[in-house]
Amino acid sequence: MNTPSAVAFDETRAEAFANRLVGTLNEAALALMTSLGHRTALFDVLSAAGDVTSKELADRAGLSERYVREWLGVMVTAGVAEYAAAPKTYRLPAEHAAFLTRAASPNNIAVTSQFIGVSAAVEEEMLARFKDGAGTHYHNYCRFHAVMAEDSAQTVVAALTDQILPLVPGLAARLENGINVADVGCGGGRAMLALAREFPASTFTGFDLCGDAFAETEATARRLNLSNLTFRQQDLSQVTSLGTFDLVTAFDAVHDQKDPQGLLHLVSNSMAEGGVFLMQDIGGSRDLETNKNNPFAPLLYTISLMHCTPISIGQGGPGLGTMWGVETAHEYLEIAGFGQVETHRLPHDPINAYFVARH
Ligand SMILES: C[S@@+](CC[C@H](N)C(=O)[O-])C[C@H]1O[C@@H](n2cnc3c(N)ncnc32)[C@H](O)[C@@H]1O
Repeated sequence: MNTPSAVAFDETRAEAFANRLVGTLNEAALALMTSLGHRTALFDVLSAAGDVTSKELADRAGLSERYVREWLGVMVTAGVAEYAAAPKTYRLPAEHAAFLTRAASPNNIAVTSQFIGVSAAVEEEMLARFKDGAGTHYHNYCRFHAVMAEDSAQTVVAALTDQILPLVPGLAARLENGINVADVGCGGGRAMLALAREFPASTFTGFDLCGDAFAETEATARRLNLSNLTFRQQDLSQVTSLGTFDLVTAFDAVHDQKDPQGLLHLVSNSMAEGGVFLMQDIGGSRDLETNKNNPFAPLLYTISLMHCTPISIGQGGPGLGTMWGVETAHEYLEIAGFGQVETHRLPHDPINAYFVARH
């Protein structure tokens, strides 16, 4: 075995790595400022405003000019916004706005950047968990459910009708005619809300451990008098059947459960004759060497480490992590009694895989 000192030190490689780390610091800072730009709506206002001074931008956004100017300093030096020194005006090029504004949804990467802040906020907690090996709980996270709901509104809700439902031939027609649908680990519940509005003859139930995750959507459903949508606060590891459903969905909600295999058994036990299970989950591999080619891997491992893995461990679960892998997903689905499993990839959502499973 080579000891570190026995291996020649490559100066060029070291310098390249140091330069890359400087880039890492800048990009990490930009990610946090991108989240702030989204939450303050500064990207939206700047994009709509054209060429503006920091004062004009701050006034239009209803924000403090001093902080807005500092944020603009980040955006200009990072090459996100353009700056004209003589009139001291700023603008957001359309090509950049296309990935940073609410109008750009579902391609708004600023939404996803919020996971950086959510993760960073539990650094102290995770430092302690590294030592004791224990897990975390949803109350440890600031805004997790809100950010998750906003993110899946882009990847799931916006693509439901055009891309996700067509993965199951004839499903839209069955929904038109009226079937019974459950969403397990529904979180914010926006997918169920969208479907309940589009398919009034069908009934929809969202199940989640955290009532606060779906409270806002539940209130919206009440306001809209949607009688075909119900939410139930439920620890899904504590029940053996949910009822009988023609369609069960799980959007990014299996790998971080207390008992992922148990959840799949529960879904399997809750299927009506001819029922279908539509599962979206992270499309990585359980093999690290394969994930080296996944352009999202460092981000996914980070969210896994700061959220998905400790959340599962905190409930007494195995902590599979985001990279439990499509291989494990297939094995677990088969063990749960799904004899037919198809895997799909959808171009709008390169992070996830979509599984269509039947008995
Ligand atoms: C990553 S989030 C996905 C939420 C939602 N499906 C979406 O796409 O926005 C996973 C969800 O699983 C829920 N969950 C975790 N453990 C659970 C359990 N034991 N029983 C029920 N739900 C659970 C969480 O509260 C969370 O809302």
